[in-house]
Amino acid sequence: MGNRTFTMIKPDAVENGHIGAILAMINTAGFRIVALKMTRLSTQKAGEFYAVHKERPFYGELVEFMSSGHIVAAILEKDNAVEDFRKLIGATNPANAEPGTIRKLYAESIGRNAVHGSDSDENAEIEGSFFFSGLEKF
Ligand code: PPS
Repeated sequence: MGNRTFTMIKPDAVENGHIGAILAMINTAGFRIVALKMTRLSTQKAGEFYAVHKERPFYGELVEFMSSGHIVAAILEKDNAVEDFRKLIGATNPANAEPGTIRKLYAESIGRNAVHGSDSDENAEIEGSFFFSGLEKF
């Protein structure tokens, strides 16, 4: 068993019809999908998920966007999962993302940036547990 990370396909990419292409890139890059669901966050739940960013100027916009439509949440497994997944998705701002990364291909802007990826093993566990029960994380 490798390390785990947590991802969301954000409302922009869901609306634009990129779920299949993004999941295919995730599989091709060698990640095993451990758990997967399509759901929608209320503003309250989105606010909780992003509480660490509460003091940032974009917090309100981020919460509004993440609760504006459906998202796809997933737990992914691979050696070095957190770091390798952040490489696969590319920089937060798609203008700075490397060619071939998910954000370069599918993100619209720094706010509407197609995917989330956990930034540490600890946060991957917290974020995965936010969406999935112990039975689903098997
Ligand atoms: S971090 O944690 O310091 O690396 O933060 P960062 O990657 O800069 O951003 C954290 C999340 O906030 C989103 N973000 C924004 N949303 C709207 N407007 C602006 N200007 C903006 N800047 C950053 C960014 O997409 C990150 O979301 P997640 O879901 O964590 O990728």
